[in-house]
Amino acid sequence: MDENGVRINKFLSEAGVCSRREADRQIEAGNVVIDGKTAGTGARVLPSQEVIFCGKPVKKENEMILLAFYKPAGIVCTTEKREKDNVVDYIHYPKRIYPVGRLDKDTEGLLLITNDGPLAHALLSPGRHVDKEYECHLAHTFDAHQRELLEQGVDIGEQKKCRPAVVRILEEKKITLTITEGRFHQVKRMLHAVGNEVVYLKRIRMDRLQLEDSLEKGAYRRLTDEEVESLRGG
Ligand code: URA
Repeated sequence: MDENGVRINKFLSEAGVCSRREADRQIEAGNVVIDGKTAGTGARVLPSQEVIFCGKPVKKENEMILLAFYKPAGIVCTTEKREKDNVVDYIHYPKRIYPVGRLDKDTEGLLLITNDGPLAHALLSPGRHVDKEYECHLAHTFDAHQRELLEQGVDIGEQKKCRPAVVRILEEKKITLTITEGRFHQVKRMLHAVGNEVVYLKRIRMDRLQLEDSLEKGAYRRLTDEEVESLRGG
């Protein structure tokens, strides 16, 4: 942290209190107090200072954590400690965190990890239709008919068909598939339903957040404020 502290809107958003935009609104409305004084826009906060937001003290333990993790194959998306390959032990973060949704044990790629329940809930909410893009290596040649079926919305044996997916063909047996739902084994089942099979799966994007080349497999990084805002829908 800067020796002058952090800006109050950033402090509040990192504490998981609200988005920066909402913080700015509340600051303007005079609802944010630092050490007994009403905060102005651009005010800064030091770790030793007490912040009151809409009448309630902001606890530092509430600091919001949102990590982009490059999940390797073999790691299980669970907080269950009895599962020896659980993602929480693997990441070994000093605070309590959990994965936002699941990737299969053999799936690799971008997994968000957070301590922010409402954000995780919003991202997973069926109504939000967050884009999830997967690189799929296939057992058989991918053809135009398979593409058409996936783009129309394929039946995987549930009450409702899948929503239409977006297909990008990379090679004869390699595509990316973008889906907006999170059904169990969805990508594998969709490809199976059109007569193909997934032999390797990697999530490469969630919403506007790409799995960038600089993040090594097994590593994680904290998201920037802009990325957090963008995922919050800001
Ligand atoms: N679809 C799957 O089939 N598996 C995953 O891990 C994610 C999406």
